[in-house]
Amino acid sequence: MPQTIAVLDFGSQLTQVIARRIRECQVYSKIYHFSTAAAKLRADGVVGIILSGGPQSVYAKTAPHPDPEIFRLGVPVLGICYGVQLMGHHLGGRVAHSQAREYGHGRLTIKRPGQLFRGLPRSLRIWNSHGDKLTKLPPGFVATAVSDNSPFSGIEDKKRGFYGIQFHPEVFHTERGGDMIRNFLVGICGAKQDWTTKDFIAQSVAGIREQVGRGRVLLGLSGGVDSSVAAALLHKAIGPQLTCVFVDNGLLRKGERAAVKKLYGDHFKIDLRVVDAAALFLRRLKGVSEPEQKRKIIGRTFVEVFEQSLKSIKGRAEFLGQGTLYPDVIESVSIGGNPASLIKTHHNVGGLPARMKLKLVEPLRQLFKDEVRRVGAALGLPREVVWRQPFPGPGLGVRVMGDITAEKLEILRNADAVLHEEMMASGFYYRVWQSFCVFLPVRTVGVFGDERTYDYVIALRLVESTDAMTADWAKLPHDLLQKISSRITNEVRGVGRVVLDISSKPPATIEWE
Ligand code: XMP
Repeated sequence: MPQTIAVLDFGSQLTQVIARRIRECQVYSKIYHFSTAAAKLRADGVVGIILSGGPQSVYAKTAPHPDPEIFRLGVPVLGICYGVQLMGHHLGGRVAHSQAREYGHGRLTIKRPGQLFRGLPRSLRIWNSHGDKLTKLPPGFVATAVSDNSPFSGIEDKKRGFYGIQFHPEVFHTERGGDMIRNFLVGICGAKQDWTTKDFIAQSVAGIREQVGRGRVLLGLSGGVDSSVAAALLHKAIGPQLTCVFVDNGLLRKGERAAVKKLYGDHFKIDLRVVDAAALFLRRLKGVSEPEQKRKIIGRTFVEVFEQSLKSIKGRAEFLGQGTLYPDVIESVSIGGNPASLIKTHHNVGGLPARMKLKLVEPLRQLFKDEVRRVGAALGLPREVVWRQPFPGPGLGVRVMGDITAEKLEILRNADAVLHEEMMASGFYYRVWQSFCVFLPVRTVGVFGDERTYDYVIALRLVESTDAMTADWAKLPHDLLQKISSRITNEVRGVGRVVLDISSKPPATIEWE
């Protein structure tokens, strides 16, 4: 068992972000239920404890509390936000409802750097989110930092190794927050920095084997980063006990199905079943032009086809593998009911595991996207897969404006393939967030040779972004744009004109729908 930092989870959505910051320091951590007995932590070889934030007030009837014995284990403890209030409450200080709720940016002034703030500037931008606050220090503690709204924004009892901070060091908006966490882990707890992606993989493999035993796992492979990495990890863990299902919905990009077959079937030798459902999807989409309607049809048909195919190969399968990442988990709890949650509609195989009596295996559930990419690379997935641009679940279905036909899809697919080739050849594919073509059902006049033409329009959508929440159009070199345009109009039959989308998000979105 490696040296472990225990993160006790008091219900904050940021608990996993704390764990992620710890991984960034190459230290091993484990998230525990808030009530975990101190004896269990001792038995697990815990060398330090972090008390997470949480939405409750320490005085609330339903407030989560730790086993008070954790303060007698003799290991350092760091309380963050609700965690520092718990320390105050349990160790003889006082916590009160604050008049002004402190939320968002604030400024921290460090009075005594001690070990926690070692090496940091005296004044830092921080991010707060709390209603209650500490109003009296517990015996043995001193204040180490203040904020505009709190004289106890940082506190410590050096002798016992207890540290508390009222703000959130784990979020990106807190300046040097990662250094504070590192100071706690390395400087205060003496944790070794030797936990790597390889160790994560080894641990996941062991965990999957333990969960699955000799059972069989079915996994829906989309070709995207998440399901690809989940497949590679599951395959490493259980080899032939894994069966992957890839649904060809007829809305894929050119060559995609062949690429999936080649990589997973031929290279990894995964038991891969390709379901050709293109005709069914197209039949159901016939004449439909309203975007949300299209999405619903694609989503529903996907679940139906996927369920059917699982039934036909189920055998003794007990498990359904999924490439769920931590941000998906937060999204589904925090914005349920909000229209934004529709974004993942096609992936939503929600009731399916229960209907089919399958248990879920989600080996990436605690990771963030960039970490998943690192795991994928370490498992030997090629760069095209690990660094693939996002591709919407409903595929080209949201990139053909108006009603969808086989002819329009073919034109879009061919134009998109040209764009993809040029983006790859120029290296810009990996430098932009997304680059794709949109089919516009508008015919315009042109000339080709001596002939007058009357052909469709392709729009190029080339965007830069870091999280898809906001985006800007990418300013690519004119000669590259020129090459893309002339190749598309020359090589793709049915396209007479190429236009460039120069809208940012907001107010536009990335996809046209
Ligand atoms: P928008 O168009 O809303 O897109 O700016 C934001 C990001 O989400 C992707 N996207 C989807 N991804 N299923 C997905 O898995 C979908 O239905 C879907 N719609 C949009 C889009 O490509 C962009 O990266």
